[in-house]
Amino acid sequence: LHIMQPAVPKATYTEPVNGTVIDFFEIDIRQFQAQTYPASSGVGPTTYVGYDGTAPGPTLRMTRGREAVVRFTNSYDRPSSIHLHGSYSRAPWDGWAEDVTNPNEFKDYYYPNHQPQRTLWYHDHAIGITAVNAYFGQAGFYILTDPNTPTTLPSGDYDVPLMIAAKQFNRDGSLFSPIDERVSLYGDVITVNGVPWPVQQVEPRKYKFRLLDASISRTFSLYLVDEAKPSVRLPFTVVGADAGYLDHPVTTDNLVIAMAERWEIVIDFALYQGKSLVLMNERKFQTNEDYPETDKVMKWTVAGTVTNTANNGPIATHLADLADTGSKTTIDHEFVFERQNGEWRINGVGFEDIPNRILAKPAQGRTERWRLTNKSGGWSHPIHIHLIDFKVLSRTGGRGAVTPYEAAALKDVVYLGENESVEVIAKYQPWAGVYMFHCHNLVHEDHDMMAAFNVTSVDL
Ligand code: C2O
Ligand code: CU
Repeated sequence: LHIMQPAVPKATYTEPVNGTVIDFFEIDIRQFQAQTYPASSGVGPTTYVGYDGTAPGPTLRMTRGREAVVRFTNSYDRPSSIHLHGSYSRAPWDGWAEDVTNPNEFKDYYYPNHQPQRTLWYHDHAIGITAVNAYFGQAGFYILTDPNTPTTLPSGDYDVPLMIAAKQFNRDGSLFSPIDERVSLYGDVITVNGVPWPVQQVEPRKYKFRLLDASISRTFSLYLVDEAKPSVRLPFTVVGADAGYLDHPVTTDNLVIAMAERWEIVIDFALYQGKSLVLMNERKFQTNEDYPETDKVMKWTVAGTVTNTANNGPIATHLADLADTGSKTTIDHEFVFERQNGEWRINGVGFEDIPNRILAKPAQGRTERWRLTNKSGGWSHPIHIHLIDFKVLSRTGGRGAVTPYEAAALKDVVYLGENESVEVIAKYQPWAGVYMFHCHNLVHEDHDMMAAFNVTSVDL
């Protein structure tokens, strides 16, 4: 298993008036080659375009309360825009799709880092080319930790980020480009941290994994088995989601993870000394297209002895007090996600429909309840709302109810399956400004299932 390098700050500044400490990072977007297929296969290297010459990009590790400025320089020939997914960034640094940085330009992004600890990720968001940019490598982890809320969950080397992404390659090892796709690109090769179907050797103890689905179009329905006994699904424990720890741990034997969702899980390998466990993906899940090996994600071999027993005890029964999202029984907005004349739309609007694309104007700090409805027939849409963390209140019409792990979480993406309606509630805060919301199937987002809302500082 490949673990991404941490980014190292280039400088640290102390703001002279109020003493705020700001770490300054610099990340370059450029083309590079890497051997993705085993060298022994005879398949040549893959050309990527990524952050600092790696795909996934370097992991930005941040501490709550310590601000950061990241300069992204664009040394490639396509425009870029960077969204820090999971951050309540102010609008000018949120990666607005039209706010592109052209080749040979740079932009400094300011990140407040004042939210509760969580797994974020930074990725491209440039208008019309987000799918191709993110797929060719412009995606990386951004991990925010909080030393003042100590965790009893596995940490350090036992806290492992896993970026899962389905890809499709050409015979020569180059990536098949999604540039002409209008529907979906499911991918027949499952990569984790950039490596197809990796294996990680683990000690017989608890580990925490920060799962992220960075695929263009593939949703996973994950389960865990002992390789020697593949018919029995093993339990694991969900402890975190998009907005950080769950209220309480949820033990399950199945986890649905859609594009851009983050779920943190704990697996106790102490129960499996000498065995190999495989993280599997259910076949025929919703609209996914399956290929011979898309039922497998990665493998863990359990060997050796435990070298560090820290945070290996029982998981606390209460993990975090979730932020208050307010309560409301009436619906403020219903948004219908559908396909019209070959284009993807929200209430009939696409992002290019500039005069009409602001679909909501919540007053700053106000609670709103939105109903998201999928009327596109045989397609699913993971819906991401920028700026805010929401609670998932209901799920009707499709594959079932809100899952126990969704019910214990605050989220910024929710999976909207075939024919489903989902209700979400949030406080529209902390900042005023215009923000995007969209389908995170990046082909749908580019064509053109994206709109905006305006958080207003005066009640309109
Ligand atoms: Cu992860 Cu608007 O995106
Ligand atoms: Cu979609």
